[in-house]
Amino acid sequence: MTDLPIHPLSDEHKMLRDAARDFAQKEIAPIAAEFDESGEFPHATIRKMGELGFMGIEIPEAYGGAGMDALAYVLALEEICKVDASHGVIMSVNNSLYCHGILKFGTEEQKQKFITPIATGKGVGAYSLTEPQSGSDAGTMKSRATRDGDFYILNGRKSWVTSGPVANYFVVFMMTDPEKKQKGVSAFLVDGNTPGLVRGKKEPKLGIRASATSELIFENCRIPAENRLGEEGEGFKIAMTVLDAGRIGIATQALGIAEAAYEAARQYSGQREAFGQPIASFQGTGFKIADMKTRIEASRLLIYNAAIAKENSKTNNGRYSLEASMAKLFSSETAMFVTHQAIQIHGGMGYSKELPVERYFRDAKITEIYEGTSEIQRLVISRMETGLR
Ligand code: CAA
Repeated sequence: MTDLPIHPLSDEHKMLRDAARDFAQKEIAPIAAEFDESGEFPHATIRKMGELGFMGIEIPEAYGGAGMDALAYVLALEEICKVDASHGVIMSVNNSLYCHGILKFGTEEQKQKFITPIATGKGVGAYSLTEPQSGSDAGTMKSRATRDGDFYILNGRKSWVTSGPVANYFVVFMMTDPEKKQKGVSAFLVDGNTPGLVRGKKEPKLGIRASATSELIFENCRIPAENRLGEEGEGFKIAMTVLDAGRIGIATQALGIAEAAYEAARQYSGQREAFGQPIASFQGTGFKIADMKTRIEASRLLIYNAAIAKENSKTNNGRYSLEASMAKLFSSETAMFVTHQAIQIHGGMGYSKELPVERYFRDAKITEIYEGTSEIQRLVISRMETGLR
C-alpha cells in the first residue's frame, strides 16, 4: 500500500492500520467462512473490536472513542473488510451511520447516553431510513411520529436495517409533518428495548451473511421527546449528511473486498499452469491483473480523498457529497469488476466454496445497492456538477 503524497500517513495512522490488520488476520480470518455459512451474528469479535476502539474511531475519547481522524477510520476499516465484509459493514454502520450522526447533531446528553456504549463495543447501533415502498426516493417515507406532550408516538414499518435484529439503539427517521414532504421528516434515537418496537424477519441474503438485516415494526412505540435528534423537520438533511459519511465507509468496504479478491487471483495466476506456463504469463490473464490493480489503486485514492474532505468538513462545515459519492460509485463497481475477474482467473476453483473468492463476489454486490445505489450516486454527482435537477 502506498502513502498519499498529499497526505502521508502518520505513525499513529500506521499503528492503527497495523493493529486492525493484525486483529483481522488473527481473530476474523479463522471464522469468516463459518459465519458466512451459518449467517450467525459475530457478537464476540464485534465486542472485541469495540474494546480496541474500532467502533468509534473518530469519536472523542470523552464518549468512549479513539479520537482519531477520518483517514484513520478508512485505513482501519479497509483492513477489516479485506478479511470479512460482514464485520466491515457492522463497523461501518456503528462508526458512520450511527455514532457520526449523533456526534454531529446530538445534544451533550444524547452523546453521553447513545454514543458511549456503541463506541466502546458494549452494544451495536443501527440507522433506519428505508421503508418497503421508499428506498432511493427516501423523502417519501410513510411512517409517522406524533408528538404527545413530552413524548413522541412512533408508528410504521422500516426495512433493510443493517444490524436490525441485534442493535441496542437505532437512529430512526419518520414523518412528523407529511404535508411538508422532506421538510416534514424528523430523526429520533430509539432504545431497542422500547415497548412497541418489534423486529421483523431477518432477511436471507446473497452476501454479507454474517451481518444481520431486518425490518422494524413500530406499533405505538412511545419515546421521550428528548430523544429527537436535531429539530423537527431537520431529519431529511440529517439523514443525507450522515449518508455522505456512510458512503465513504461502503466505498472502503468495496475496496477491502476488491483487494482480497485481487490478491487471491494474483497469487493463483502465478502458480496455476496451463499449456506449460503460469496462466499469468498469458496476456488474457496479465491484462486482467493490470486492470484490477489499476482500478483498486484509483478507488483507494478516491476514498482517501473523500476521507480528507470529510476531515476538512469538521472545521469548514462544508459538504463532501461529491467526493463521497464518487468514491462509493467507483469503488463498488470496481469491487464487482475485480471479484468477477478473480473468479474467472480461478476457473472452477473460483466457483467452489473451498476458496473465499466466491464469497468476495457475493459480498461485493451489495456495495452497488445499499447506502444509495450506483444510480443514486450518479444522480448526486451529476446534480452537484451541473447544478441541474
Ligand atoms: N447533505 C446536506 N443536505 C442535503 C444533502 C446532503 N448530502 N442531500 C440533500 N440535501 C438537502 C438538499 O439541499 C435539500 O435542501 P433544501 O430543500 O433546503 O435545498 C433537501 O436535502 C432535499 O434534497 P433533494 O431535493 O436533493 O432531495 P431528493 O428527494 O431529490 O433526494 C436523493 C435526493 C439524493 C435522491 C436522496 O433521496 C438519496 O440519497 N436517496 C438514496 C437514499 C439511500 O441512500 N438510502 C439508503 C439507506 S441506508 C441503507 O442502505 C441500509 C443500511 O442499514 C445501511
